[in-house]
Amino acid sequence: MQEKLEDLKNQAQTELKQVSNEVSLQNLKAKFVGRKGVITEITKSMKDVSSEDRPKMGMLINEVKTYIEALFDEKLNQIKEEKKKRAIAEEKIDVTLPGRNVSLGARHPVSQVMEEIVTIFERMGFEVAEGPEVETDYYNFEALNIPKDHPARDMQDTFYISDDVVLRTHTSPVQIRVMEKEEPPIKIIAPGRVYRCDSDVSHTPMFHQIEGLLVDKNVTFGDLKGVLTEFLRLVFGEGLGVRFRPSFFPFTEPSAEVDIECVICGGQGCRVCKDSGWLEILGCGMVDPEVFKSVNYDPEVYSGFAFGMGIERITMLKFGINDIRLFFENDVRFLRQFV
Ligand code: PHE
Repeated sequence: MQEKLEDLKNQAQTELKQVSNEVSLQNLKAKFVGRKGVITEITKSMKDVSSEDRPKMGMLINEVKTYIEALFDEKLNQIKEEKKKRAIAEEKIDVTLPGRNVSLGARHPVSQVMEEIVTIFERMGFEVAEGPEVETDYYNFEALNIPKDHPARDMQDTFYISDDVVLRTHTSPVQIRVMEKEEPPIKIIAPGRVYRCDSDVSHTPMFHQIEGLLVDKNVTFGDLKGVLTEFLRLVFGEGLGVRFRPSFFPFTEPSAEVDIECVICGGQGCRVCKDSGWLEILGCGMVDPEVFKSVNYDPEVYSGFAFGMGIERITMLKFGINDIRLFFENDVRFLRQFV
């Protein structure tokens, strides 16, 4: 029995060497010193030991048990320690790695140009006005002297919400809304979204315009030319050719379209300016007396000018972008170029 006990110590030691995790360690420990383990088995056979040997045997059993338990405890600590070391090694931060950049957002190119244009007109004394994007037929067409059979009223060009309600096709209805509420002098710009049923390289169903309206006594076409020429000089730079070309809008008379010298080819003629050397940049004119009548202004007393321009078009020309749809795809590789 004594030998068996001494053997047990060695056996425990040998078997412990095979163990590498906590679970198998606990299982092995149970085999030796657990309630149903070998030591318990040996204790049971104490009844066969003579009474004079019994105390000695008892002491030996206890000693072996304590020894084995200590072995296991030691191994357990060792396993835990290794586990901790491994965890630390795995979680180690390599401080020599390059850092991850937090990339900052930036304003959309259309917003940038919109803001630039608004700022230029604000410095000239214009105030910002706004109107609804869902607009009535009256404000979008009727009050602006656009007759019922005008092509702009066609279902092909205009998004109708109902017979009488549309998505505004231009920012001009803001002219009417402002004049209805206020008396001259009026000097406003109206930036915002407009909608047209159209989609190709130079048209999107939603785009942005800025409207301008100035009404006072003795306003002339010369004032209009002065304001717009100065504006174009500030946006596109000094020395740029600007021309006013007769045109037609139902709400202005006379009307003009303003062209700038082609910024792509410098007026030599290219694909963008269709070999003309000029780029159409905005529409304008003197407020039509019919429009004044619809807001109860006396056309004999007051005169004014109005203008409207597309922001996407100006942004495209300023940055040399050849497809308007790029603005709305929101591909960051495109957008990052304008930071
Ligand atoms: N509303 C016109 C358009 O969308 C532009 C314009 C505005 C023309 C004001 C003249 C005066 O094309």
